[in-house]
Amino acid sequence: MTAHNRRRFIKQAGAGMGLAAAASFVPTRFAIGQKAKIKLGLMLPYSGTYAALGHNITDAMKMRINEGGGKLGGREIEYVQLDDESAPPKGKDNASRLLVRDKCDILVGTVHSGVALAMAQVAKEENKFLVIPNAGAVDLTRKNCSAKLFRTSFSNWQPAFPCGDVALKDGHKTAVIMTWKYPAGFESAQGFKDSFTKGGGKIIKEILPDFPSVEFQAGLTEIAALKPDCVYVFFAGAGALKFMKDYDAAGLKARIQLYGPGFLTDGVYKQAGSAAEGIKTTLHYADDIDTPINKKFRAAFKDQTKRDADVYAVQGYDTGTFLLQGLAAVQGDVGADKALIKAWEGIKIDSPRGTFTLSKSHEPIQDIYLRQVYSGDEKLLGIAHKALADPGTGCTMA
Ligand code: PHB
Repeated sequence: MTAHNRRRFIKQAGAGMGLAAAASFVPTRFAIGQKAKIKLGLMLPYSGTYAALGHNITDAMKMRINEGGGKLGGREIEYVQLDDESAPPKGKDNASRLLVRDKCDILVGTVHSGVALAMAQVAKEENKFLVIPNAGAVDLTRKNCSAKLFRTSFSNWQPAFPCGDVALKDGHKTAVIMTWKYPAGFESAQGFKDSFTKGGGKIIKEILPDFPSVEFQAGLTEIAALKPDCVYVFFAGAGALKFMKDYDAAGLKARIQLYGPGFLTDGVYKQAGSAAEGIKTTLHYADDIDTPINKKFRAAFKDQTKRDADVYAVQGYDTGTFLLQGLAAVQGDVGADKALIKAWEGIKIDSPRGTFTLSKSHEPIQDIYLRQVYSGDEKLLGIAHKALADPGTGCTMA
């Protein structure tokens, strides 16, 4: 659907709304004063394999905003939430619903890279801000970077790149890669390959099940036959839990060291029980980072949600800080594009993951931690790469 057709489609869909639709044409932006609510469009997965990720992002973001007084730049907030189902074909229409039909001031989302790529197109066409609290699609902070697009999470390359060096240091020379067949999987695999092959390692096979399939058996049989020194995988959410269990049940965990970006274990290692023991991962967060802000955040999240915080909750929390600080700088005027971009480009976020700033391509420059699950806990082993920035190749902000 073209942008023009999409607007027409949305107009038709809203035609039955009568007066309510007419009322929504009244400018609700800063023009009529600070009292107008700021509309935040939250487009995240609330169903499917990434559902838990979407909920943790949402709950932690709201928790942080409430800690900051519950307003953005003095304006009350109206949240408009939409379940994107991690379905890329629905991405553009869903983003249009939030930006065109519902007239959200800022779009926040999402988890799945394919959906985020669609959202970025719509946000650009509509000249709206997009804040990404997870999806790591590298294009969005490389050749398709853009002035009104910011990421508070990571690029898919970022947590993966240090992992290749970790595997080499552990003495491994050959690896099999297994990931879902979509941008996040390819880009994560590339990060691992970049460092592993540069240091002399060899990738002997890449196994690519479709997203979000959890039929891992054929791949595991192949791994058993290939006998690599180690295995690197990108899976997350419910799929990651199933993979860890299957890898263990196939008898591979005891024989072939498993690595991945920390999405493999975050939020699911407790449920995986002994199947997660020994898995080594690299990520821009670790549960046991020993700082007051991390401890306070974990306790507050547990208290409010009865769930343990994970990297997704951290990213939601930091998105809350990002919105609070940026909008405070412009007194809630989302229309003050230049000033808001400047404030966000210069932001420093005190995060449970450690303090971070943004690169020129609007992407966190952050420490990547090495973690390993043992005795039922995910332990921080050290920093795998200090202050790592995505290369941002091809980003011109044109
Ligand atoms: C992505 O699609 O970019 C993605 C999804 C889930 C993760 C990490 C990255 O945990």
